[in-house]
Amino acid sequence: MKGGKPLVGEVVIGGAKNAALGILAAATMTDEMVTIDNLPDIRDINVMLQAIEGIGANVVHSASHEVKITSRNIHAMNVDNEYIRRIRASYYLLGALLGKYHRAQVALPGGCNIGSRPIDQHIKGFKALGAKVSIGQDMICVEAEHLRGSHIYLDVVSVGATINIMLAASMAEGRTIIENVAKEPHVVDVANFLNSMGANIKGAGTDIIRIVGVEKLHGSVYSIIPDQIEAGTFMFAAAATKGDVLIKNVIPKHLESISAKLIEIGAEVEEFDDAVRVVAAKRLGRTQVKTLPYPGFPTDMQPQMTVLLALSHGASTVSESIFENRFMYVDELFKMGAQIKVEGNTAHIDGVESLIGATVFAPDLRAGAALVIAGLAAKGYTMVQQIHYIERGYETFEKKLQLLGADIEKVEVDDPKAVRKFQMRVG
Ligand code: EPZ
Repeated sequence: MKGGKPLVGEVVIGGAKNAALGILAAATMTDEMVTIDNLPDIRDINVMLQAIEGIGANVVHSASHEVKITSRNIHAMNVDNEYIRRIRASYYLLGALLGKYHRAQVALPGGCNIGSRPIDQHIKGFKALGAKVSIGQDMICVEAEHLRGSHIYLDVVSVGATINIMLAASMAEGRTIIENVAKEPHVVDVANFLNSMGANIKGAGTDIIRIVGVEKLHGSVYSIIPDQIEAGTFMFAAAATKGDVLIKNVIPKHLESISAKLIEIGAEVEEFDDAVRVVAAKRLGRTQVKTLPYPGFPTDMQPQMTVLLALSHGASTVSESIFENRFMYVDELFKMGAQIKVEGNTAHIDGVESLIGATVFAPDLRAGAALVIAGLAAKGYTMVQQIHYIERGYETFEKKLQLLGADIEKVEVDDPKAVRKFQMRVG
C-alpha cells in the first residue's frame, strides 16, 4: 500500500467473528434446522462450518452471509478432522456436544502467538457439571453419565470458558450458576441465541449467569451482532489517517471504551443509532491505556491503539493485562520508525510525526490489521506479509479500505512481478 491518504467515506461492518464461532457450535445442539444470518465470510468461520460438516451436520449456504444448519445426523463425537486443528474455537464443540450427547472428543486447540492460552477453566466447568475429562494423544475427551447443574466460580475472567460452560449447562439437569464470567457482547449474543432455541439463560452480560437446563433445544432463525473489533479497527484507521469515516452497522454501546479513548486524544466521534462517525483533522494527543475484560478497553484493539499512539503527540503507555505476549508487532513498527519500548506488559510510546513505509510481517490477526493501519498512515510504500492472519478475522479488508480511498492492493507473494513492484518502492 501507499500511505498518506486520509480515509474518507462509509464502511459497513460485518457480523461478529467471536459471537459466530460460539453460535455455530451451539447450532449443533438441536436436531431442527437453524438459520444464521449476518455470518462473516472469513476463514475462521468457514473452517468452523467445515468442522461441523465433518461430524455429520448438514450445512447449506442459503444466501450471502447466511447458512442453514441441520445437525440431526451428527454421528461422530470424535472431532478430529483437519479443520479442527486449524482454529482454537473448535473447543466450543466440546461444550455443545457434551451438552447434547454427554460425550465429545476434540483435538486439543493449537497454541497461539499471543500467549499460552490454557483451557483449565473450561475443564473446571465441565468437571463441575459431572463430566470426566481426559487428555491424551493430542485430544481432549469429555463424557458424563449425567450432566447436573452446579455452582461454578471462574478463577479467570475467560470468554471461551464462559461460552463453553454455558453451552454444556444449557442442557444439564437443574440449575447452574457461573460467577466471575466474561461480559463481552459476543458472550451475550451466544446466550441470546441459545435462548432463541429454547434455553433458559439469564444474566449474560453481568458478573453472574444463571441457567436452568432444558431437555431439548429447537431450531431458530438468528442474526449475529455486528463485530465490535472490526468496527473499532476501522475507527482507528480513520483516526490514524486523519480521515472522516462513517462506520455503519454497529452497536455504539459496544464501542464505548474505544470511542472514549478516541475522544480523549482529540478525535471527533459522532454516534447514531447503528453507526459512528470518526473525524480526526489534526494530530492526536497522548494517553494511558490498559486492556481489560469488557466493558474495559478490549485486548483485541491493543495493537491498533499502539499504532495510533505511535503517531500521536507526546508520550503514552499501553498495558496488556489479558495476554502475556501480545507486543510482538512492536518490532515491526520499529522498522517503520516508531519509538516504542516494551517493558514487561507495558509499551512505552514516544509519538513521532510520521512513520515510514517498510516491509513488515503480521504476527497475528489483530497486529496484522494494526500494521495495515500503520502502512496507510505512513509516508511511502508498505508491504504487509503473512496476511492470512488478517483474513482469519476481516472480510475483504483491503476492498473495504479501497472504498475509503486507500491506495492498497492484495498481491500474491508468489507473483514476483507484483512483489517487485512493491519491493522497489518500499526499499
Ligand atoms: C477470546 O479468546 C477471543 N477469541 C480473543 O480474540 C480475545 O482476545 C479473548 O477472548 C479476550 O477477549 C474468540 O472469541 C474466538 P479468554 P479466549 O479465555 O476465549 C486466560 C481475536 O483476535 N485463560 O477470555 O481464548 C487466558 O490465558 C481473538 O479475535 C485461562 O487462564 O480468551 C487469557 O490470559 C484473539 N484459563 C485470559 O484468560 C482458561 O481456561 C483471557 O482469555 C481460559 C483462559
